[in-house]
Amino acid sequence: MGDCDLTVRIGKMKLKNPVVVSSGTFGFGEEFEDFFDLNRLGAIIPKGISLKPMAGNPPPRIFETDGGIINSIGLQNPGFREFIKNKLPYYKDLKTHLIINFFGNTEKEYVELARRFDNTPGISALEMNISCPNVKRGGIVFGTDPRMAYRLVRAVRRATDLTLIVKLSPNVTDIALMAESVEEGGADAVSLVNTFRAMAVNICTRRPELGNIIGGLSGPAIKPVALRMVWEVSQAVNIPIIGMGGIMKAADAIEFILVGASAIQIGTANLVNPKTGIEVLEGIREYLAENIINRFQNLIGALE
Ligand SMILES: Cc1cc2nc3c(=O)[nH]c(=O)nc-3n(C[C@H](O)[C@H](O)[C@H](O)COP(=O)(O)O)c2cc1C
Repeated sequence: MGDCDLTVRIGKMKLKNPVVVSSGTFGFGEEFEDFFDLNRLGAIIPKGISLKPMAGNPPPRIFETDGGIINSIGLQNPGFREFIKNKLPYYKDLKTHLIINFFGNTEKEYVELARRFDNTPGISALEMNISCPNVKRGGIVFGTDPRMAYRLVRAVRRATDLTLIVKLSPNVTDIALMAESVEEGGADAVSLVNTFRAMAVNICTRRPELGNIIGGLSGPAIKPVALRMVWEVSQAVNIPIIGMGGIMKAADAIEFILVGASAIQIGTANLVNPKTGIEVLEGIREYLAENIINRFQNLIGALE
């Protein structure tokens, strides 16, 4: 069972396996090191980074709902300088890929950040977030307009030689069109989906459950929709897809792979069971063995 080839290529990166932990749900990695050996993951994506530190939205910022959570963290992060100084050194000795999730408020900020990360050793790839629903400006504006997304990706593409992954928003009518636009702009891969705009109300207080009123829904509740979106995108583009949205166990991950994802990300599940990534990895390995498939890559898009 141990000799199955789990490797997969995303741009210039060769992942040892397709299991990646998603931005915002795995802290900066070190918070999870007591639970398992982080080197077993295909890649780690820390919390999204902006040029300047951000305080995030007013509390409460997470609300548990049926089949998922709604969060309105608002991209709280220490900013580029602090990240490089105090967070990046931790990854130096890790033997897995580090993918940096980043975002800006303007095209200039996206380009500036891409250039800075490009000149920083120890980073394998950039995941460009054009899809956060929890901030007033930035991200999502670019993520819902195909022309703007194309222009932004083209500008960032010119600023970096690192593998460029563009993270798409599900809050659009036609996600395949968005994927085509960023592919044309020069993305090496797309990752999808980010969270769905959502809200919850407390009927006793008659107030919204979140300080920001609106947040982003993630977890099992979004899986069928996310899966449909990955399938649609896989019909539309030739670049690799990293699929996510409600993956809690190996069977969920395999569904995403069958509809065309080359790799998958674990998000909300990390908050429920910090070992989900490793359990999903083992489950994929078992599935391949049981089905006598000796290369993981043969499973990608194998939907009948
Ligand atoms: C608490 C929380 C924080 C998040 N922060 C980020 C972030 O900083 N950048 C980003 O691109 N996505 C962020 N996300 C979105 C996740 O990476 C992922 O795309 C989404 O939750 C869907 O996957 P899931 O259903 O497996 O959680 C966050 C999600 C949650 C729940």
